[in-house]
Amino acid sequence: MTAALRFEGATLGYGPCPVLRAVDLAVREGELVGVLGPNGSGKTTLVRGATRVVEPAEGAVTLLGRPLGLYDRRELARSVAVVPQEGTPLFPFTVLETVLMGRAPWLRPFAFEGEEDLRAAREALAAVGAADLALRDLAELSGGERQRVVVARALAQGTRVLLADEPTAHLDLRHGVAIFSLLRRLSRERGLAALVVTHDVNLAAIHCDRLVLLSRGAVAAEGTPREVLRADLLAEAYGTPVHVQERPDGSPFVVPVGIADAERGAR
Ligand SMILES: Nc1ncnc2c1ncn2[C@@H]1O[C@H](COP(=O)(O)OP(=O)(O)OP(=O)(O)O)[C@@H](O)[C@H]1O
Ligand SMILES: [Mg+2]
Repeated sequence: MTAALRFEGATLGYGPCPVLRAVDLAVREGELVGVLGPNGSGKTTLVRGATRVVEPAEGAVTLLGRPLGLYDRRELARSVAVVPQEGTPLFPFTVLETVLMGRAPWLRPFAFEGEEDLRAAREALAAVGAADLALRDLAELSGGERQRVVVARALAQGTRVLLADEPTAHLDLRHGVAIFSLLRRLSRERGLAALVVTHDVNLAAIHCDRLVLLSRGAVAAEGTPREVLRADLLAEAYGTPVHVQERPDGSPFVVPVGIADAERGAR
């Protein structure tokens, strides 16, 4: 199967010094891929590389079989949606109006949203458990509520590829699990190709088909959660010791070793 999103030897960065070198990575339709890595390792840069915010200095990025460079802005917005790491500016809009903005790439110039757009927006809000927030002002929501609205806006965009940069960063336990479950379901049931950047290693372990670990300017490991979530690889990448345990279903479970634990162990 051709990949929905593919990086081929892509070198990405912001000036003469690349942040990521020679990245090879593919996300197929129906697949949820998690991107892990320490702060500053290039996860957001990778997302920017998939939307042409950052152009590869070397190599190529292709989206749905075509080089990213051949897309105009509208086609790009119809093909790939992004949940950005920074969230969204506080527009003086309601939640429903904000989610409807996701429909913009599908509207004729100067046209208003129609019934179908409204349905897509309401469906997206329901999917993130925020249907009851529809008429609230965006500015008066909590951080986690707002984050779910941003995810809903990306879903309403109705793209085949979705990139989410730390979508669970401000979410409580229930909503964090719910977002990962939703992305997994959308990939399984609708063939969405989803790439999710996250520090929630254990949520990623349960829900993602594959993981990519970025470290020191490159892909340090790539494979199934069991292949990537190894104590040696994680300790090397994050610069701190970790324990990797096994759940009853065999999936890995990562526990950082605290300083107190290390001291206890030394005694
Ligand atoms: N616009 C920019 N101009 C110059 N350098 C940048 C820019 N954005 C990011 N960088 C640098 O690129 C490197 C990678 O940043 P990036 O935001 O991709 O990291 P990240 O893995 O997403 O980190 P985090 O987990 O903190 O979100 C960092 O060293 C950062 O300082
Ligand atoms: Mg980031």
